[in-house]
Amino acid sequence: MTQFLWGAAYYPEHGELATLDLDAERMRAAGMNTVRLAEFAWDLMEPEEGRFDFALFDEAIARLGAKGIRTILCTPTAAPPRWLTLKHPEVLRVDSRGVTLRHGSRQQASTASDLYREYSRKITRAMAEHFRDNPHVIGWQTDNEFNCHFSEDYSVGAEQAWVVFLREKFRGDIGALNRAWGTAFWAQTYVRLEDVPLPARGLPTHLNPAHHLDYSRFIAWTVARFQHDQVEILRATQPRWWITHNGLFRLIDYRGPFGRDLDVLGYDVYPMFTWDPRQRGANQAWSLDAVRAWTGNFIIPEHQSGPGGQTDYLHDNPEPGELRRMYYTSIAHGADSILLFRWRSARFGAEEYWTGILDHDNVPRRRYVEVAQVGGELARVGPAVLGTHVAIDVAVAASDFDNTYAHEALHFGLPGSDQVAAEWHGHLWRAGYRVGAVHPGDSLAGVKLYVIPHFTLVDPTWLPRLEAWVRAGGTLVLGARSGTKDGDNNVVTDLLPGALRPLVGATVVEYGRQNAEEQRPLELEIGGRRVVSSDWYEQLEPAAGTETWLRWATRHQAGSPAATLRPLGQGRVIYVGTYLNGAVAQALVPELVKLAGLEPALRDLPAGVEVTRREGAGRVLWFVINHNETPVNVRVPAGRDLVADRDVAGALDLPARGVAVIQAGLAR
Ligand code: GAL
Repeated sequence: MTQFLWGAAYYPEHGELATLDLDAERMRAAGMNTVRLAEFAWDLMEPEEGRFDFALFDEAIARLGAKGIRTILCTPTAAPPRWLTLKHPEVLRVDSRGVTLRHGSRQQASTASDLYREYSRKITRAMAEHFRDNPHVIGWQTDNEFNCHFSEDYSVGAEQAWVVFLREKFRGDIGALNRAWGTAFWAQTYVRLEDVPLPARGLPTHLNPAHHLDYSRFIAWTVARFQHDQVEILRATQPRWWITHNGLFRLIDYRGPFGRDLDVLGYDVYPMFTWDPRQRGANQAWSLDAVRAWTGNFIIPEHQSGPGGQTDYLHDNPEPGELRRMYYTSIAHGADSILLFRWRSARFGAEEYWTGILDHDNVPRRRYVEVAQVGGELARVGPAVLGTHVAIDVAVAASDFDNTYAHEALHFGLPGSDQVAAEWHGHLWRAGYRVGAVHPGDSLAGVKLYVIPHFTLVDPTWLPRLEAWVRAGGTLVLGARSGTKDGDNNVVTDLLPGALRPLVGATVVEYGRQNAEEQRPLELEIGGRRVVSSDWYEQLEPAAGTETWLRWATRHQAGSPAATLRPLGQGRVIYVGTYLNGAVAQALVPELVKLAGLEPALRDLPAGVEVTRREGAGRVLWFVINHNETPVNVRVPAGRDLVADRDVAGALDLPARGVAVIQAGLAR
């Protein structure tokens, strides 16, 4: 981003033209520079097939622009107009039981359908051409939260697209599909690609995990293809526009073609969905770090600005300081722009209680005052953060599409790798470490400790880089079941841990699910204490040059290796033959922190205070955020607090939910 965008989602189609000039003035007074428009306005922009009418948006964009507020436009394809679904009911999505979704909500149309793609291209082209030379339009959001409510698709369009997907993937060779999926099991051999069904879990029973994983990839492929149609048109029409999308949702591979098509990924942030206020900070930090593992720094097209409510829930109203605290946590974790959802609460529709900055009566109250305060601060903080990245020294692996959905296809009731990663992230975050998430295909520069909890699928191209990083001093930790599957979600034939075995320097000789934690407790010794492992055990055999790091203490495993450590160059590879969750995580975190020589972000950090560091462009920015409902005193580096606009030296008093962004010299 060349400018830190600060603004809100705005809806001229909800009657806001009447208050637009006052709205724009209030936006300016709150430091805002941008609105996002039109994501659900297809019915107005194309009231009948082929008749386009953009007058409302022309006027809104011009009047906002005249007051210095620029526009991000959206393709409106998350909600097709009624004439379209009446004329072509076949574009409606169908669920796995064959039930057709109905008009009257949103996301009812199939992104797999060629016919729907045609309509999507038409409205995108019409909008792009109409707004091509509008100086106030700076960029685009594709659709709105693809797959947010519904990601499955068994429509006719999906069935046709499935054959195209399979043909591409298996180059038209049905034999290759049969081999890759192991279709000999349960008489699934297919003769023609056209005959391969879309798999549906539970109808009647267990699925072939290879078939299931390819179905997940197929859905991701259809969404990426649908978005690509729009991206192509927008880029060809006006090269100066940048393009984003607001994720993250199921069955989309944001690291794949979907994400590569975008200039920057957007992520919508609603921390009030964490009902326990004490957990909000940790959960928000984790979700944002996981976003960065998908595509790096991001923008926030929608950030909570009041209590949200839909049919069956209504959030707490954020208390004073809580919104501001959330916005700074987002920036501290890599947000390079924030738009709030929404400017004003709608008085009608499914979200008539999804509260905006302003209440229904349009009176600016404390939420507006708080938003305006942040807007004023962002005049200093915004320009400083652009060009910087979040600097971490400990990371968990996350955000891998194949591992997520391979696990989902056959999970044995075990937690997914990202779920365990979230647990580790939480422990490290609470203890004040500069923790983040990194995908194993990316750079680990600056990271000292890296935990890949349970990636059953390991891409061999990750290995040389991981090994080089370990040799240069990194501590790599791998959990049970790593490397046990191939790219089709079949079990590997090698000794375990498969492709990782040379790097790990040990072999798994026996493994099992641990179900009877109470009746047959399995314990291992960590740091001189006995710790119960609740989900899984493996018995390991270290190769020459690899040490036994932990041993099992009970039952027939007693005395046998439970974890190994292979010294490698300046670093080490640790393999732990159990699930890294629960008591095991709690016991391992302090041991590994010691081993890797990690220091907390700042010394003597009070509990409940979050510190992150963004650096780059010759700057170091320390974000210090008090999540407590009481004031704290924090020892901080000397520098200038850009929030309060004053110098700080050594110590800082922060009120409840207070924040500081200290710009310090690079020397530190
Ligand atoms: C997002 C969505 C918005 C609105 C908001 C509040 O998921 O993009 O359109 O629904 O949440 O629910």
